[in-house]
Amino acid sequence: MSTAAGEAARRRTFAVISHPDAGKSTLTEALALHAHVIGRAGAVHGKAGRGATVSDWMDMEKARGISITSAALQFAYRDAVVNLLDTPGHADFSEDTYRVLTAVDAAVMLVDAAKGLETQTMKLFAVCKHRGIPIITVINKWDRPGNEALALMDEIAERTGLQPTPLTWPVGIAGDFRGVLDRRDGSYRHFTRTAGGATIAPEEVMDADAALAQEGDAWTTALEESELLEASGAEHDQELFLAGATTPVLFASAVSNFGVAALLDTLVDLAPPPADRPDADGKPRALDDPFSAFVFKVQAGMDTGHRDRLAYIRICTGVFERGMVVTNASNGRPFATKYAQQVFGRDRETIETAYPGDVVGLVNASALGVGDTLYVDAPVTYPPITTFAPEHFAVARAADTSKYKQFRKGMDTLAGEGVVQVLVSERRGDGAPVLAVVGPMQFEVATHRMEHEFGSRISIEMLPYSVARITDAESAPEIAKARGAEIMTRPDGEVLAVFTDKWALRALEQNKPHLTLTPLVAAQLA
Ligand code: G4P
Repeated sequence: MSTAAGEAARRRTFAVISHPDAGKSTLTEALALHAHVIGRAGAVHGKAGRGATVSDWMDMEKARGISITSAALQFAYRDAVVNLLDTPGHADFSEDTYRVLTAVDAAVMLVDAAKGLETQTMKLFAVCKHRGIPIITVINKWDRPGNEALALMDEIAERTGLQPTPLTWPVGIAGDFRGVLDRRDGSYRHFTRTAGGATIAPEEVMDADAALAQEGDAWTTALEESELLEASGAEHDQELFLAGATTPVLFASAVSNFGVAALLDTLVDLAPPPADRPDADGKPRALDDPFSAFVFKVQAGMDTGHRDRLAYIRICTGVFERGMVVTNASNGRPFATKYAQQVFGRDRETIETAYPGDVVGLVNASALGVGDTLYVDAPVTYPPITTFAPEHFAVARAADTSKYKQFRKGMDTLAGEGVVQVLVSERRGDGAPVLAVVGPMQFEVATHRMEHEFGSRISIEMLPYSVARITDAESAPEIAKARGAEIMTRPDGEVLAVFTDKWALRALEQNKPHLTLTPLVAAQLA
């Protein structure tokens, strides 16, 4: 096998996703700990009292203890090379998360045992389904009182349509986590706590007799429940998992490092390696084709010391060698990959060579935008990354009008990075662009960055709109006259009609059916 396909076969590229607070940062840390990337939990994403976070480029992240920025962590585990892509941790549905999910081959969905499926969990399940991403589900915080395991399985089946196929089953109810029954070989994995979960939790493997002797009724109950599952067909089937019909389930306590080794093993054993990727025409591009990749995230100002702009690419085919000159399919221009880095939080390491499934951060990437395809030799274009229909709109104004240049530059940069959509309304003019977002948190990020990175404090005035449609120059004048509607133009020239609510839109559609009002992809349906 050639290098690219051979190396790709060893890759597992995934993201951990969850509703905020389910334990994503804690699990990320625990995974890094197991893979010996870090020596102590708390080094990657520590919150207050757990050491410094690596993703604290922005003061705001520090203040809120969340990670908005995202990058990738690569580590070796068994014979595999694991790429863990970081996703933003904030509460809104975020386009950023969606973009990261275009770059992974699998996702780990964390569910809080006490809370079950939450709003964001449901959206993320839907996004993965939409993109055909196989999901491994981890029921976290089993060390704390929570729901019954069987009830959680029912909830997953009923609300997501995915058949849960537990690989492990908890011994001891939520709050009394003793270990797990490994359903594949019937063994018992008994956990031992370490102080504060800061080091790898020792795991003792026992056979069924020893487990019964040690755990008594808790073991018997686990066995009985596991048999119930078997009878209901909740057994892992690799094809159904990859087809997105089932989700393997593991039980864990990320904070005590319980079940983390099982998750890594499951990723290596079951998660799919990178596969041939269809281009914009639907033609699969072979892993062994010459180098090609696409930009899934652009980010600037992560560090006040480095005012650079980074573009993160996911390699689809071929071998990346630092220094190679690639072509940007969106404009045919060359891009020299002189500075290529692996970036996870504060750590940056130069990358010399990378393979399909890997993520490379390209420095000085002001010419690259989200969705751009890069290639060498034969031209390739991968499908564009979906832009979601904005649901929140606000006018942005420079607080200090003498800083108009900084204001303009900041707006252009944020728009280019996809932090917010920047629309222009004839009614308001160039000096008062309208920021359009899917989640209102994006306003906060934009405001913060405008002030701290571009030296332009802005004021934000919320607009009463919530629905957007694509229209055209012919329909626009008539729509502009309607009640509760306004016309705005996107930087790509697309004309948007925005409405206060769906009733305003519906009234117009009914009264004037000749108008062009095409829906955009809604985040809810994603
Ligand atoms: P997120 O990134 O998904 O938002 O979640 P994060 O890891 O920050 O975890 C949210 C809270 O849940 C943290 O508590 C964390 O310690 C706790 N947590 C994570 N995994 C587990 C687990 O398996 N069991 C238990 N009992 N708790 C867990 P916090 O009070 O917000 O922060 P901290 O002071 O504990 O660091």
